[in-house]
Amino acid sequence: MTQSSRAVRIEQPGGPEQMQLCEVTVGQPGPGEVRVRHHAIGLNFIDVYQRSGLYTLPMPLQLGMEGAGVVEAVGDGVAHLRTGDRVAYAANPPGSYCDVRVMPAMNVCRLPDAIGFEEGAAMMLKGLTAQYLLKKCKPVEGLEPGDFVLFHAAAGGVGLIACQWAKALGLQLIGTAGSDAKCALALANGASHAINYNTEDFAARVKDITGGRGVKAVYDSVGKDTWDKSLDCLAPFGLMVTFGNASGPVPPFAPAILAAKGSIYVTRQTLFSHITSRERTQAMADDLFGVVTAGQVKIHVEQRYPLSQVQQAHRDLEARKTTGSSVLLP
Ligand SMILES: NC(=O)c1ccc[n+]([C@@H]2O[C@H](COP(=O)([O-])OP(=O)(O)OC[C@H]3O[C@@H](n4cnc5c(N)ncnc54)[C@H](OP(=O)(O)O)[C@@H]3O)[C@@H](O)[C@H]2O)c1
Repeated sequence: MTQSSRAVRIEQPGGPEQMQLCEVTVGQPGPGEVRVRHHAIGLNFIDVYQRSGLYTLPMPLQLGMEGAGVVEAVGDGVAHLRTGDRVAYAANPPGSYCDVRVMPAMNVCRLPDAIGFEEGAAMMLKGLTAQYLLKKCKPVEGLEPGDFVLFHAAAGGVGLIACQWAKALGLQLIGTAGSDAKCALALANGASHAINYNTEDFAARVKDITGGRGVKAVYDSVGKDTWDKSLDCLAPFGLMVTFGNASGPVPPFAPAILAAKGSIYVTRQTLFSHITSRERTQAMADDLFGVVTAGQVKIHVEQRYPLSQVQQAHRDLEARKTTGSSVLLP
């Protein structure tokens, strides 16, 4: 039995105008798959990279990596889900910009009753990212309560979750953001300090705040515009975690600069290396659900768009007009 669904697809990479709402046919889940009817869909900066062609994917492409909804049908061999379960996910392959889809069940997690669909759709890709960044991407000397870390784009989707989670871990998170209002938001969500990197020299401010020593780790999703100065913010043996390209990709660099800046470490991370098994995905999701249901991390859904307004949603995200998370509503 098949049914039809609205879905946002692109025929070729390009601007937001490439995204068109169309009708697609959705079938039954095969082995290891489930059919999910979305109640809310998460918007992420990776959707922009996939739409623009910065990340190359086969065309035509149904976009979207995150969503929340209800399981409508379960394929053979799926033991952890049942029809009617409330669920949320961050998952490959893309395709969440739709009413209903069939997808691999591995990364689909049952949503605790206390967490709504909009929060669920807004928190999985961004929250699991904050989880692995703060819990798994640590400098060789470790991270202890009281330590300073630098987190760019601190008022964004990943950023606001990281501010709160870092505070819960006792870290002093220095957040950067592109306006004074965004800095105030980062501070209100647990950042110990905030720097407007459009008006201030963030490396100089970091040195001031840390008494000249620098931070133990930098979490940088801005990429090209912040790369050089971010390296200057690190204490000796510190860790540079580059995990995004909002301003463009980081250009190639000579490893010798890592020695010159204090024998620092660099890693380029992606969530999708961390969620390659059901067990790892669920363990990370349980950690995330725990801090959200305990009230330590609030999921800020600050923008809502009907699915039909997806072009505007992308324009707002790329123009740095958003704060916190955005969701598309089917
Ligand atoms: N590798 C991974 O595992 C992984 C997973 C999730 C997300 N990410 C990355 O994490 C970042 C945050 O993702 P998100 O979905 O939560 O987005 P977001 O932070 O809500 O939005 C991106 C923010 O980046 C800042 N930015 C700086 N320069 C920019 C530019 N030239 N153009 C656009 N924005 C710019 C803007 O904040 P200001 O105005 O404050 O500068 C903007 O609001 C993205 O780079 C994303 O690719 C990586």
